[in-house]
Amino acid sequence: MKALVYNGAFDVSVQDVPDARIETPTDAVVRITSTNICGSDLHMYEGRTDMETGRVLGHENMGIVEAVGAGVDRLKVGDRVSLPFNVACGTCETCVAGRTGFCLRANQAGTAGAAFGFAAMGEYAGGQAELLRVPWADFNALVLPEGTDKELDYTMLSDIFPTGWHGVELSRFEPGDSVAIWGAGPVGLMAAHSARIRGAAEVFVVDRQPDRLKLVAKAGATAIDYSAGDPVQQILEATGGRGVDRGVEAIGYQAHDASGDEDASLALNQLVQVVKATGGIGVVGVYLPQDPGAKDELAQQGKVAFDYGTFWFKGLSMGTGQCNVKAYNLKLRNLITAGTATPSFIVSHELDLTEAGGAYEKFDRRDEGWTKVVLHPGDFSAAR
Ligand SMILES: NC(=O)c1ccc[n+]([C@@H]2O[C@H](COP(=O)([O-])OP(=O)(O)OC[C@H]3O[C@@H](n4cnc5c(N)ncnc54)[C@H](O)[C@@H]3O)[C@@H](O)[C@H]2O)c1
Ligand SMILES: [Zn+2]
Ligand SMILES: [Zn+2]
Repeated sequence: MKALVYNGAFDVSVQDVPDARIETPTDAVVRITSTNICGSDLHMYEGRTDMETGRVLGHENMGIVEAVGAGVDRLKVGDRVSLPFNVACGTCETCVAGRTGFCLRANQAGTAGAAFGFAAMGEYAGGQAELLRVPWADFNALVLPEGTDKELDYTMLSDIFPTGWHGVELSRFEPGDSVAIWGAGPVGLMAAHSARIRGAAEVFVVDRQPDRLKLVAKAGATAIDYSAGDPVQQILEATGGRGVDRGVEAIGYQAHDASGDEDASLALNQLVQVVKATGGIGVVGVYLPQDPGAKDELAQQGKVAFDYGTFWFKGLSMGTGQCNVKAYNLKLRNLITAGTATPSFIVSHELDLTEAGGAYEKFDRRDEGWTKVVLHPGDFSAAR
């Protein structure tokens, strides 16, 4: 089968690899219809993780069940499914508690949490490929309405729509709250869409990319351009000096200042400033325990100069981490089916899998207009 292989920093290519197959009775094999490139893939693409060369990338996957193992009794061949980026066993302590992003059994390295095609998250192949092996398939796969309707909406259920929702949840959001989101990438835009659906009074989204800032309005939010001035001041001015009830960090450790220099602490500290006393911050942007590719020593050790004194003095709370996709994806599927949620508004490109290499390059440079790339392996004109 064809698959997108990581060859090393800034080097990915579509190659022929052995077909994904059933390896244990609880597996299914899914024929991928849509698989997206994510901001998380870029951390790996840029060589800023310990991703092994030769592995297949892709954790935002959906498709049609092609085969099921002898131990699979809920899923049927032909089912249209969305696959959470998390690989989870369904029966360990954290899975039973609903925190499937921190499964205690799925990661062969023994750390909590596993994912398809991801650095340090187990040995699972990714789904930027024609076929994908899905472990514990009955537990992990979410069945979608059959056919090809709303493909570009449902494809956001594997990661970024639940992750945006999770960021809002981690901030301890309540209806009527005001929210400021740092980062207008796909995740930040999904957080804005989620906050609107959940009844936010006011939503701000900070970025400096003009094309992404334009999409902020489509999410029903106010765009704040941090290259035009301090974003904290801009939001304070817009709120009569009050700030916001909730903040969401949707950038990650490769955040940069207005001149383009990386600074992992900048956005976190700006959120501490802009969120009202006793408010909450949800951090879904990825931070790593080590970052050898970082410029300064602190960042290399996975540490940030966090403004903890102000954070504490204001009585703020913070929630962090990978999204537990299964905690949200069924209800978010229903919101899409009902027409309440339309996460496809961020899609800028639908391409064939064979065009993935060039797409990585352009998405990584944040080229104008490259907001979210959906790849269709094989002939998938029906999805368009
Ligand atoms: N927690 C999870 O489960 C989860 C899931 C998916 C993605 N992620 C992570 O979320 C983050 C965002 O993902 P994405 O796909 O939207 O990525 P992205 O890289 O496309 O978007 C990040 C955006 O942040 C902007 N940005 C950079 N520095 C900024 C600053 N100082 N202030 C404001 N904006 C700034 C960039 O211009 C860019 O538009 C990544 O770190 C990704 O790995 C986490
Ligand atoms: Zn993703
Ligand atoms: Zn588990």
